[in-house]
Amino acid sequence: MPRITVLDNTVVDQIAAGEVVERPASVVKELVENALDAGALSIDITCEDGGRAKIRVADDGCGMERGDAVLALARHATSKIRESSDIVGVASFGFRGEALPAIASVSHLELDTAAADGAGTRVTTSGGESPNVSDAARRRGTSVTVERLFYNSPARQRFLRSARSEWRGIVDVLTLLALTRRDVRVTVTHDGRVTLGLPPAPSLRARVGALWGAAFAERLVDVDDVSGPVRVAGLVERPADVGTASRRLFLSVNGRAIRDGGLVRAAEAAYRSTIPAGLRPTLLLELTVPHDSLDVNVHPAKVEVRFRDRWPTERAVEHAVRRALGTGASAATFGGRAAAWPPTFDATPAVDREVLRPAPLDDAHATPLAPHVGTATLDSAGAAASRESDPVPVPPLLQLRRTYITFEHDEGIVLIDQHSAHERVLYERFLRTLDRGEAPSQRLLFPITLHLGPAEGDAFDEHRELFEKLGFEIEGFGGHTLIVSAVPMPHPRFDAPRCLRDTLAALTGDRSPSAASRHERLAATLACKAAIKAGDPLSPDEMRALYTALARTTLPAHDVHGRSTIVQLSWDELERRFGRR
Ligand SMILES: Nc1ncnc2c1ncn2[C@@H]1O[C@H](COP(=O)(O)OP(=O)(O)OP(=O)(O)O)[C@@H](O)[C@H]1O
Ligand SMILES: [Mg+2]
Repeated sequence: MPRITVLDNTVVDQIAAGEVVERPASVVKELVENALDAGALSIDITCEDGGRAKIRVADDGCGMERGDAVLALARHATSKIRESSDIVGVASFGFRGEALPAIASVSHLELDTAAADGAGTRVTTSGGESPNVSDAARRRGTSVTVERLFYNSPARQRFLRSARSEWRGIVDVLTLLALTRRDVRVTVTHDGRVTLGLPPAPSLRARVGALWGAAFAERLVDVDDVSGPVRVAGLVERPADVGTASRRLFLSVNGRAIRDGGLVRAAEAAYRSTIPAGLRPTLLLELTVPHDSLDVNVHPAKVEVRFRDRWPTERAVEHAVRRALGTGASAATFGGRAAAWPPTFDATPAVDREVLRPAPLDDAHATPLAPHVGTATLDSAGAAASRESDPVPVPPLLQLRRTYITFEHDEGIVLIDQHSAHERVLYERFLRTLDRGEAPSQRLLFPITLHLGPAEGDAFDEHRELFEKLGFEIEGFGGHTLIVSAVPMPHPRFDAPRCLRDTLAALTGDRSPSAASRHERLAATLACKAAIKAGDPLSPDEMRALYTALARTTLPAHDVHGRSTIVQLSWDELERRFGRR
């Protein structure tokens, strides 16, 4: 017969500690969050032996009166909520009243605190035993010292990793907190050495610079977008930089750092067609959502949250990042920060503000990919008010090496890769056509006959309908012979038979499951094969048309394979290189 007993408080605390206090990093997280909740503006963290021997967190927050200091170590003692309904919309990091007792139950803990300079209190406890209380003169604020974590729990102590590995965990936790609360000064000391000193930072970019270097911070692109009730802000990596170093990830919701695979995938989806599949961009994103649409009480360490409306939140993230990648600031540069976009020409006297004229490469009559996206400038996504029919100011353009188009603007020089740029233009145009139909096509005077191998033949059968939507008129003629009687006409040098053959060869074996990814694959392949090539001479009209069409795409700075279509060199950078400043 089982005998049921009610567990004693110390055992209960130790069990709770199993969830809240996994390793030294969790202790640091809880103590720093308490300091932040106490309104601290400066926090000192000191660790020894990767936090295994000692962790001390000292703050200049509101401190506690003696009664509260003793209560703080009791289970379910919190100053942050009164009723369960308070959890909805709770703005503090803590609310459960279990972190301090849980930590105290598995360590030697000393808490020094004063609500005003002078009369302070020291509370000490070992393994959660009843605390000793004494006087301690100190400045306003609180310091909590945790020594010999898991000293009374050998099984858990064995799970601790090397000091180095535990230290890395602590640095990760502190990094997330430092990104979340940039207004707070953070000093970190490990084994007697100051390893991190972060002054208060005016922006996320400044804090990122203090953590990982100004050069890294400069290269990130701003995200700031509102979709319905969701605001998404932050910094993301330029596609041209992705994959050069291991990625950094920071996500927060209403000021709380969280882990969320769905949101990360949504942000990564925004990079589609700008980076090779499998590469992982650095993402630092801060979401603001209505408090009542969020449940923060779903994870013991509060590192996960539950959204009432997950789908629109993910869409908002994808849209915001996509929009950021649509700006010129996401373009590649020769070092330094990308110049501001759209390019302005006011201070460049030689510019003739040419207005778009239809020309052979022109995409002027196409509707933009997404209706909410403006189109008149290279910053197509940003100019929400402009319409596709608005004139695009075109600067004088020059072709270099029959490969690049170059021009100057107020902030620097831009080089456009004519093939990549045209690929981007055609890709978006083909995708639009596949989604909406009605492709302009040109009837051929002499139909072309193509003899295909079996694999290409199968690829054609598989995609036949899509080719027709794109403006090809093709008849099968027994076996794998095709008669092509009409083709889309992306430019005068378009070599339809070769393009069709190359596209089909590239599509063999393509069994993409979803219609959307089949559309994307076909549009990307066909765009690559149909675009003008490096080495094609372009007339001034053709260059202008390409410039305008590129300006009207949603992602003008990136081709469809993860390469750049434009590279910028700012006047600033040029002056630096020539020693002019
Ligand atoms: N550094 C500090 N400065 C001032 N008060 C503190 C500090 N640390 C803890 N307290 C007080 O002690 C209480 C208990 O802290 P504890 O971390 O155990 O619980 P909590 O923060 O309320 O909730 P949670 O368990 O979710 O962290 C807090 O509610 C707060 O009033
Ligand atoms: Mg707490």
